[in-house]
Amino acid sequence: MAVPVTLSSPNHFLVRHSNSQFPSCHRRYNRNLQALKNSSRSLSFRTVADNVSRIYCSHTESVVSNSKSNSSIKRPPYIPNRIPDSSYVRLFDTTLRDGEQSPGASLTAKEKLDIARQLVKLGVDIIEAGFPAASKEDFEAVKMIAAEVGNAVNEDGYVPVICGLSRCNENDIRTAWEAVKYAKRPRIHTFIATSEIHMEHKLRKTREQVIEIARNMVRFARSLGCDDVEFSPEDAGRSDREFLYQILGEVIKAGATTLNIPDTVGYTMPVEFGNLIADIKANTPGIDNVIISTHCQNDLGLATANTVAGACAGARQLEVTINGIGERAGNASLEEVVMALQCRGEHVLGGLRTGINSRHIFLTSKMVEEYTGLNVQPHKAIVGANAFAHESGIHQDGMLKHKGTYEIISPEDIGYERSNDAGIVLGKLSGRHALKSRLLELGYELDNENLDNVFWRFKAVAEQKKRVTDMDLRALVSDEVLQSTVLWKLLDLQITCGTLGLSTATVKLLDADGKEHVACAVGTGPVDSAYKAVDLIIKEPVTLLDYSMNSVTEGIDAIATTRVVIRGDNSYLSTNASTGEEVQRTFSGIGAGMDIVVASLKAYIGALNKMLGFYGVDVKVTEKITQSA
Ligand code: KIV
Repeated sequence: MAVPVTLSSPNHFLVRHSNSQFPSCHRRYNRNLQALKNSSRSLSFRTVADNVSRIYCSHTESVVSNSKSNSSIKRPPYIPNRIPDSSYVRLFDTTLRDGEQSPGASLTAKEKLDIARQLVKLGVDIIEAGFPAASKEDFEAVKMIAAEVGNAVNEDGYVPVICGLSRCNENDIRTAWEAVKYAKRPRIHTFIATSEIHMEHKLRKTREQVIEIARNMVRFARSLGCDDVEFSPEDAGRSDREFLYQILGEVIKAGATTLNIPDTVGYTMPVEFGNLIADIKANTPGIDNVIISTHCQNDLGLATANTVAGACAGARQLEVTINGIGERAGNASLEEVVMALQCRGEHVLGGLRTGINSRHIFLTSKMVEEYTGLNVQPHKAIVGANAFAHESGIHQDGMLKHKGTYEIISPEDIGYERSNDAGIVLGKLSGRHALKSRLLELGYELDNENLDNVFWRFKAVAEQKKRVTDMDLRALVSDEVLQSTVLWKLLDLQITCGTLGLSTATVKLLDADGKEHVACAVGTGPVDSAYKAVDLIIKEPVTLLDYSMNSVTEGIDAIATTRVVIRGDNSYLSTNASTGEEVQRTFSGIGAGMDIVVASLKAYIGALNKMLGFYGVDVKVTEKITQSA
């Protein structure tokens, strides 16, 4: 039943549902998590969006119509090579493929599944789930996502296309097909470089050879039974135009349904990239029978601008990642592109629109931040901690008078609630119920076990801190719930450190079979000695690549979050899609707490759990899930 209640500001009002509807995929997700029981704990993300049926924003250009829940967003029927609505732009999310190529961002199969489920809530049209030929783990993860997420058709018929990347060779393409074919809408994405510099130095092939390979491989992909084939001329931004028209014309004849135009090294200017798309549209034979796509890297900080320019010039698929993560400086970010279209699409972008439910953006961003360990910079557009903070007196005065003075997007549009809008202050006297309802408002729907765990952590913090802020709560949820496979758990830590004597740590860990292990070690400081004690127990050779610590809020009683990145031995390898090189995977872990050594230790154990869980447990679970699908 819809009960109009919350008046969050004079020009933003929310209508809440007391009983939110969960798509069927959500229920299946919970079932899968049962299967993952021993290796993980469950968390459902429920964003403000699940509760809100309407948000009106009155800003500069009259009413920004953000009033669509996923089920009311009108999405044209999916036909691989055609969109029967000229203003609809498909969103292709490559967080799990290009995003995961960021250093330290390795994701376990279970984490990928969680993110894919969240992408479904957002309503992305295509999920590039990975590069199946990169490793057995990548293959299994893509297969699991295809089988699970790629079959969870919601009530209005929406189900994302599940795509797998492949280089232009038969083995990669066959492997990609073997992984994605379980989806209702499978897609193979194959690519080969077309710029002179790549063809001469990387491929050592002539233009004619490259055309021949591209044509044959697109034909091969189609011959496997895949009717949705995407082709990318890698480094198109620096490729010769006439050559591009020629190779693209050939792959269209061979059966490609989407032509993706990558600015692989982020070299082009928006006007140039827009012209590139317009020229391809005007000069490529057969182009009217396919979808043109953009894939913009952010080396010059222009990825979003280039992507929007591409859409204006006729691209109807945009490749993006959550938080803009990806190789080097990353990719165009989903949240920026979506909000640019949502904010300005109607008025200055010719009515362009997407099928994205923007109110799931904030929590998706948080989930990707936690799982990849790649922190979002505070001033990042849309999802950064400062994106809706108003510091200067003049701005604050304007905001108090009318939010539209300094905000073009309201935080609710992306599923973010300002703490001081809610009017609830949590402290040591707050009970489980108050915590649960604030967490729900922040978008976290925890099962009883997780809620209990977070509650006891909350109580411990509240004993020492007068006010527990939303940021503290988010850190506690991340630390308690958003952990990958829990193979090793910290039970106790005791430290002696300071200027008198040696830093010594005694650590007690619990293994997956419930057995306790204790070790004691001496180190150069408290963190070093604690890590050494863990190494004595887990006995896994690792190199610590990065260690950082931040305080969540200001003040001496702040919660600290710690992030570490580790590299294991040579068995953790994967193939880089662009270079073909074998690269060693790195794994990140995050810990939070008021005691910085405990937070540091949790981050280290988290990274170790992720690395150990990368093989074995998750793969077995994958097999179980795909067998039963
Ligand atoms: O950046 C790039 O060129 C790519 C392609 C494989 C699309 O990631």
